[in-house]
Amino acid sequence: MSVTVLVGAQFGDEGKGKIVDYLSQNMDMVVRFQGGDNAGHTVVNKDGEFKLHLVPCGIFNKGCKALANTGMVINPDELLKELKQISDKKVDISNMFISSRAIILMPYHVELDGLGEKTGISIGTTKRGIGYAYADKMRRTALRFEDLLDLTYCKQRIQKIMPRINAELKALGGRTFTEEEVYEKCVYWAQRLEKMIVEPVSFVNEAIEKGENILFEGQLGAMKDIDLGIYPYVTSSNPVAAYAAVSGGFPISKIDEIVGVMKAFTSAVGDGPFPTELFGAETDGFRGTGEKVDDEFGARTGRARRLGWLDLPIVKYAATINGFTSLAVCKIDKFDSYDEIKVCYAYKLNGKIINYMPTSRNLEKVEPVYATLKGWKKDTTKIKEYSNLPDEVKEYIGFIEKHVGVPVKYIGVGPARDNLIIK
Ligand code: GDP
Ligand code: IMO
Ligand code: MG
Repeated sequence: MSVTVLVGAQFGDEGKGKIVDYLSQNMDMVVRFQGGDNAGHTVVNKDGEFKLHLVPCGIFNKGCKALANTGMVINPDELLKELKQISDKKVDISNMFISSRAIILMPYHVELDGLGEKTGISIGTTKRGIGYAYADKMRRTALRFEDLLDLTYCKQRIQKIMPRINAELKALGGRTFTEEEVYEKCVYWAQRLEKMIVEPVSFVNEAIEKGENILFEGQLGAMKDIDLGIYPYVTSSNPVAAYAAVSGGFPISKIDEIVGVMKAFTSAVGDGPFPTELFGAETDGFRGTGEKVDDEFGARTGRARRLGWLDLPIVKYAATINGFTSLAVCKIDKFDSYDEIKVCYAYKLNGKIINYMPTSRNLEKVEPVYATLKGWKKDTTKIKEYSNLPDEVKEYIGFIEKHVGVPVKYIGVGPARDNLIIK
């Protein structure tokens, strides 16, 4: 009987997939509301280990609808691939729906992203075509899933769109696409996805009116928001909670809870400022070798993530722009063997403490102010109750709550669904 929005409170990869998988046990619907297959949301549950890119992480719960909503840019080939991977593991995908207003991410967007990353405008994207699909949406030259329901109209749109796309591809030395091959792709996608396409505004609002429990699953995190993040090292959508309502076509007043997911430390993939970043052997404690599901390598690209101490000004900024009602802190267990843990609780800019989040160029210059907290030197991975956590973990959690001003409700102590403590 409530609408919850769950978003990343840092630079992405905070553990959103795991928390969505847990919360969706009580949900009637889980909705992705922005981004595309740049996402990699890890879920470890009784069905197996998954890294979902486009499919909402609620898909594993019987009876829970999964909607890829307006606001997303969806590569249909990737969606079909992912749905096959999930159904091969006996997961029921009959509850998967796609917004008719969602943007189709085309093969030429992927090509353009790859070309862009070879030039001076590279920012370390996932090369999934995200920025180019959103650019086409904004210049009103994208196709939407509704166009697959009227192939005559679809063909006309392709004929209008392709000359400019091909001119851009040619200018950058990339491969061009014929109108026929793009149209054939659309016919192929229409045959396979048609039944999943719904009119999204009534779909979502009717569920809200019926009093269903709905969870909106964000992609990436606050610092990579196109307007509010570390521009230009950002994604091309708004991973903040309000965008769930903007793109979903329902009033923001319907949102009851906003959960911010964070890691007990900080990670980022791609370029841009990262005040608490650590280098070389300093990151060994968090990283792992890449063999385990929770090692710090990108769930989408496999790139080694940049790692550093917890940066609370970032989480506080995320709380300010999102309005978190609670926090989920993942990966507490990664500190189980540490003697001491450093936490940044303020920044200095030009020698003075600042109480705001600077934009990228000044964020490059800030000096983190650290507190050093005592480690707990105990295995937390088997703990199920908050009361059984070592006092030092409680102090770490209390330090976060004090500096961010939001209560911590969930504490992750391992990658699986049940490695979670409810406070
Ligand atoms: P997302 O993009 O926010 O869904 O996060 P990712 O799945 O990209 O990255 C989070 C990583 O942390 C994954 O490897 C998860 O398996 C792992 N993870 C999530 N929560 C915990 C936790 O509490 N402890 C440990 N050890 N790993 C976790
Ligand atoms: P989830 O949802 C971490 C980063 C890229 C790059 C920037 C722009 O799993 O948290 P894009 O491909 O979106 O144009 O790249 O954003 N990035 C992510 N980093 N987790 C993600 O998703 C990311 N999606 C994009 O590395 O810096
Ligand atoms: Mg991820």
